[in-house]
Amino acid sequence: MVSQERSGAWTVGVPEVDCTTPNAARIYDYDLGGEHNFAADRAASEEIQRTVAPTGPFIARANRAFLQRAVRFCLDRGIDQFLDLGSGIPTVGNVHEIARSRDPRARVVYVDVEPVAVAHTRHLLEGDDGAGIVQADVRDPDVVLGAAETGRLLDFSRPVALLTVAVLHYITPQEQAEMHRYRDVLAPGSAVVISTLTADEREEEAARVERFFAENTATQVTFRTRDEVRALFDGTELVPPGVVWTPQWRPDPADPNGWEPHRAGCWAGVGLVR
Ligand SMILES: C[S@@+](CC[C@H](N)C(=O)[O-])C[C@H]1O[C@@H](n2cnc3c(N)ncnc32)[C@H](O)[C@@H]1O
Repeated sequence: MVSQERSGAWTVGVPEVDCTTPNAARIYDYDLGGEHNFAADRAASEEIQRTVAPTGPFIARANRAFLQRAVRFCLDRGIDQFLDLGSGIPTVGNVHEIARSRDPRARVVYVDVEPVAVAHTRHLLEGDDGAGIVQADVRDPDVVLGAAETGRLLDFSRPVALLTVAVLHYITPQEQAEMHRYRDVLAPGSAVVISTLTADEREEEAARVERFFAENTATQVTFRTRDEVRALFDGTELVPPGVVWTPQWRPDPADPNGWEPHRAGCWAGVGLVR
């Protein structure tokens, strides 16, 4: 019942998972310096850095820093409710922690399908009345929007920040159409936050990443061009600086750097619902 890999790392009862196949969520956790990953995930991350994309950890850290800046931007606009689709394994600077540091009444619903991410989030949020997790596939908006936690925590008659950060590359353009259901329930003043992997300016590296994930994980990756990412903001007012590389979106001096911005591999932006 419990995966107990390294002492200290697995203090939570995690349902039995296949720890021999690398998993994208846990590779990302390792790249961020997290502890909720298995030997296969760590080996995959090292292999990616060595032979596929040397910037792997930079991509993860630049993305996570973007997420945190975008959450602060939403809070500055008075948005105090967050629906975080594909929220991942909890790590330092989770959405509810950032939100609470500005607004103790902030409410957060995390959504993820990966059992390790869900178990650790559930553990982290024990006794927390203002945040919860829904275990669901984000491609099924009716399940997510109809979940008890979503109904308990979020009031869709007021602005909500819809966070789709580093998750849309797991969703094909065909499946993307369904995701519009989330937009339909957002009140004016809500925010749509997106970052997603691209092959722009890194075609060869992206092809290697695509092949690696297809051959070694159960995850398929879809890359989107900058124009395709801009189109995801249709119906919203794109806030300056528009769709840019993650490190370029309203940067903070404390953010990770050291590589050229395009090596962060993800386009990012925030749109406001009119
Ligand atoms: C790279 S992590 C991003 C985590 C967080 N959003 C961030 O940007 O730091 C992607 C997460 O999306 C989750 N995910 C991928 N496809 C999903 C799906 N169809 N439904 C729910 N979660 C999904 C993965 O399990 C993983 O935890």
